[in-house]
Amino acid sequence: MATIGMIGAGSWGIALSVLLCNNGHQVTVWSALPEEIAELKEKREHRTLPGVLMPEGMEFTTELEEAMREKDLLVTAVPSVFVRQTAAKMKPFLRPGQIVVNVAKGIEESTLKTLSGVLEEELPAADVAVLSGPSHAEEVSRGLPTTCVAGARTRRTAEYVQSLFMSEVFRVYTSPDVLGIELGAALKNVIALAAGIADGLGYGDNTKAALITRGIAEIARLGMAMGGKFETFCGLSGIGDLIVTCASMHSRNRRAGILIGKGYTMEEAMKEVQMVVEGVYSAKAALALAKKYYMSMPIIEQVNAVLFDGKPASEAVRDLMLRDPRDEDSGLSW
Ligand SMILES: NC(=O)c1ccc[n+]([C@@H]2O[C@H](COP(=O)([O-])OP(=O)(O)OC[C@H]3O[C@@H](n4cnc5c(N)ncnc54)[C@H](O)[C@@H]3O)[C@@H](O)[C@H]2O)c1
Repeated sequence: MATIGMIGAGSWGIALSVLLCNNGHQVTVWSALPEEIAELKEKREHRTLPGVLMPEGMEFTTELEEAMREKDLLVTAVPSVFVRQTAAKMKPFLRPGQIVVNVAKGIEESTLKTLSGVLEEELPAADVAVLSGPSHAEEVSRGLPTTCVAGARTRRTAEYVQSLFMSEVFRVYTSPDVLGIELGAALKNVIALAAGIADGLGYGDNTKAALITRGIAEIARLGMAMGGKFETFCGLSGIGDLIVTCASMHSRNRRAGILIGKGYTMEEAMKEVQMVVEGVYSAKAALALAKKYYMSMPIIEQVNAVLFDGKPASEAVRDLMLRDPRDEDSGLSW
């Protein structure tokens, strides 16, 4: 049995806590929101995961020190916009070499850093790892078979994380490509917005498949220019997560996209979805990264134009379809 501090009590933090408790570990869940902790203690159920009861023994606190003291492992599961400020608050309680697994997905807009980069900056004494893949909280919390990948700087850390999360319903692979895992996780949210927009416009499965396939090509192009590995973009945290996010109604990015495709503004769609739509932040960051690395990212450019410049979604699709003709892969020769 390991002792685990879950830093964040949204859908994902709670779903992973349920999984880890069911694996026999002792989990202490922290939230920045006292009302959330009070409700969890009282009802032992999270409002975003109705019907999923918290196992006995799962503990809840608003004190970071309590969540972090003498823990074998810490997991950061706050939405990406809160990762830096939460890490700064964690610093005084961190043990040198303590493993911190980031499960949030995003790129910090102001610095263009991945979230493990943010954690390493704020918590230089931590051994930062990541866990990502096609894994909606709604399904993991109900024990539906799911696969993920644990990335870390050393095999030892990755295998330790793997050993704690792995179960008959949650299969975990390991990888040394932390950067590739995180870039796939963050950038897929932008393509999911595009997939939702296509759904909202009333387009079909052909359009969805086109967005997924050309979307992963864009993600991999940028990701490899930044140092991520091609194989990772073909894996669970790349194409795997992109498929689930573009296809599932659990995806808030896709749901926001559907509303935008139906004519809502970005602000109206975010209000309606009532959850943080991380793809909106990642869209800006992705465009800035594309410029920095001189990459062409046509889908991500059009998503930005729709979200931030008021471009009609149907016009964006038309512009994508009528781009100059080209080879599918410029690396292949005749
Ligand atoms: N939900 C999923 O299925 C899922 C799956 C994989 C990864 N993720 C990633 O995990 C991260 C968290 O997602 P989620 O679905 O749990 O989000 P969520 O929208 O459920 O998170 C809301 C939670 O954020 C926390 N919060 C609110 N204000 C805060 C503050 N000021 N400081 C710190 N925490 C604050 C609260 O605990 C609140 O419940 C995201 O980056 C997401 O991309 C989510």
